Amino acid sequence: MTITGSINLPGDKSISHRALMVASLSPQISTIKNLSDGKDVQSTEYCLKLCGISIKNGLNNVKLIKGDTFSSPSKELDCGNSGTSMRLLCGLLASKGINATLIGDKSLSNRPMERIIKPLFERGVDIKSINSLAPIIIKKSVLTGFKYKNKISSAQVKSAILLSGLTATKPTYYHEPILSRDHTEIMLKNVGVTIKKANNGICLIPPIHALRPLNIEIPGDPSSAAFFAGAASILPKSTLILKKILSNPTRFEFFNIIKSMGVDINLKNGKNVAGELVNDISIKQRKLLGIHIKESKIPSIIDEIPMLAVIATQAIGKTMIKGARELRVKESDRIKAIVINLRKMGACVEEFEDGLTITGPTKLKGANINTFNDHRIAMAFTIAGLVAEGNTILDNYDCVDISFPDFFNKIKMLVK
Ligand code: S3P
Repeated sequence: MTITGSINLPGDKSISHRALMVASLSPQISTIKNLSDGKDVQSTEYCLKLCGISIKNGLNNVKLIKGDTFSSPSKELDCGNSGTSMRLLCGLLASKGINATLIGDKSLSNRPMERIIKPLFERGVDIKSINSLAPIIIKKSVLTGFKYKNKISSAQVKSAILLSGLTATKPTYYHEPILSRDHTEIMLKNVGVTIKKANNGICLIPPIHALRPLNIEIPGDPSSAAFFAGAASILPKSTLILKKILSNPTRFEFFNIIKSMGVDINLKNGKNVAGELVNDISIKQRKLLGIHIKESKIPSIIDEIPMLAVIATQAIGKTMIKGARELRVKESDRIKAIVINLRKMGACVEEFEDGLTITGPTKLKGANINTFNDHRIAMAFTIAGLVAEGNTILDNYDCVDISFPDFFNKIKMLVK
C-alpha cells in the first residue's frame, strides 16, 4: 500500500472555535471561510447561537456572523465532547455578564475544569461546579484586573483568562511555562485588542470598545494533516502534498520531528494569512530513525502524539516521549489508549506516568482497536492498520466526526 496525491484539509479546529467566538464580539458582519466541519466546532456555534449571536451560512462555504448581542441562554449550553468550547466559553461569557450553565458529554464531564474555575473565580467571576467538573454555572459578575502565572502550558486556559479580561476594569497579565498555541492572541490583535509582551508573559489591556469584524479564511488543520503525513511517512514509496496547512510554530513541531526522524519534508508557497503562517507541505517516505523528543516541545505536539507513537513503531531504535502528563486528561487517557492498542498490534512499548517509549521497527499485526471514543485515537490507529498485516477493526469510527468527518473518504481517495 502507498499514499500519493495532493489534498486540502478542513479548517483548523482551534482557530475555528476562536473565529466564531471573536466574531461574536463585533457588531458588524464577520465572514469565516473554511470553518472546521467537526462536531466540536458545531458545539461552539450552537452555544453562541443560544447566547443571542446570529450565525448564518452564506454562499461558498462562508459563515456570516453578526455579534455584540449577547443574552443569557434559556437552556443549558451543551458543549458535547469539546473541551475548547467549554473552557473558552466560560471566559468569554463571564466577560459579557452572562448567566449560563455549561454541560458536556460523559468524557467532557470527567475532564478537569479546576484549571479554569480557580483562576476565573480568583478574578471575580461567580463560577461554581461540583468537584471542579462540568456542569459549570456562571453568573453575571464585575471583573477587575488580574495577574495569573499558570504552572501548565494550556492554550485553553490562557484563552479563557484573556477572553474574560475583555471587559475587565484593569489589565489581565498571563504567564505560562512554555508558549502554547497563540491563536487567541493573534486573532484578538487583528480585531483591535491591545495585547503586549509583559514580564515574560503577555498583557491584555482594556477597555475594549466595539471590536472590528473578523474576515478570515481558516488554514488547513495541521493536527488533521498529521494523520496523512503519518501515513506518507510509513507507507513505502509515498509522496503527498498537503495544501494550505497552518504552520504557526506552536503547531508545527510534529512536522519538524518527523523530518528529524528521516522523512523528506519541504514547504512551499508560504504566506501569512491574518497573522498565521500557511504553507503547502510535501512529504516523501524515507527510512526512519527513533528520536528523543525534548519536553519543551510537548505543548506544540500534544494532539499529534498518538500519530507520532504509531510512526515510531516503524522507526529504527527508541523514540522517547516524556513530560506529556497532559495526555492523560484529553478526550481519553491517551497514554493508556496508545499503549493498549500498540501492544495489541505487537509493538514494543513502555508506559510511564508522563509518557511512553517505543522501540522499533516492528511489523504491526491487525487488531481490534479500542478507540475509547476518542477521535485522534481512531484516526492514528486507522493509519497503523494500513501498515499492519491482517485486518484492523475500530470499535467506534463515528468518533472521527469530532474533528474530521471526511477522514475515511479522504484516506480512501489517496491510498492505493
Ligand atoms: C486546544 C488546546 C490544547 C489542545 C486541544 C485544543 C485549543 O488543549 O490539546 O486539542 O484549541 O486551545 P490544552 O489547552 O488543554 O493543552
